Amino acid sequence: MKKNKNQSNIDFRFMSFFFKIRDKIHPPIEKIIKANIKQGDIVLDYGCGSGSYSIAAVEIVGSNGKIFAADIHPLALEKVRKKAEKKGCTNIETIQTDCATGLDNEYIDKVICFDVFHDIPHKNDLLKEFHRVLKSKSILSFDDHHMNEDEIIDCITSKGLFKLVEKKDQQYNFIKI
Ligand SMILES: C[S@@+](CC[C@H](N)C(=O)[O-])C[C@H]1O[C@@H](n2cnc3c(N)ncnc32)[C@H](O)[C@@H]1O
Repeated sequence: MKKNKNQSNIDFRFMSFFFKIRDKIHPPIEKIIKANIKQGDIVLDYGCGSGSYSIAAVEIVGSNGKIFAADIHPLALEKVRKKAEKKGCTNIETIQTDCATGLDNEYIDKVICFDVFHDIPHKNDLLKEFHRVLKSKSILSFDDHHMNEDEIIDCITSKGLFKLVEKKDQQYNFIKI
């Protein structure tokens, strides 16, 4: 499997600063709602970055749910852990990975994959991993402003693992087939 390199720490910190501004303009909770995340859900936030969506999701899933925040970059996971600690959340777990999550088969209710897929060299391997960990007919919620709509739909559905069920603005919800 081809591996991708992570960003420098400086680039990562710059990106995190930019996301703080983005999150003021577009509150992360909006995308969590569009992903149909519900109380009690177990969620995988793949390519979690500084954790904007993991932290928003934990508000919705509550203490009966759980968030797995996965990223290739150690600083991302450190940021998520610090944010979770500050909020007193014990149900956010971090995973450092460039693809395999180590999660059980059919364990996850929702995968969210926001603004990361364009950067993945081994896209089909990652889709297989999402398919493996998701429960039957569960949702992969996806956005990536670096890819156009045709590319997104083709990339996610062409191997017969997912089908598109809804589009909300630039966010696409695919269901596990
Ligand atoms: C543009 S950021 C998006 C972060 C977050 N999803 C958001 O929208 O706020 C992309 C993130 O994906 C991570 N990333 C890149 N390639 C990855 C891979 N193969 N596996 C896991 N994470 C990856 C980067 O380290 C970075 O934190």
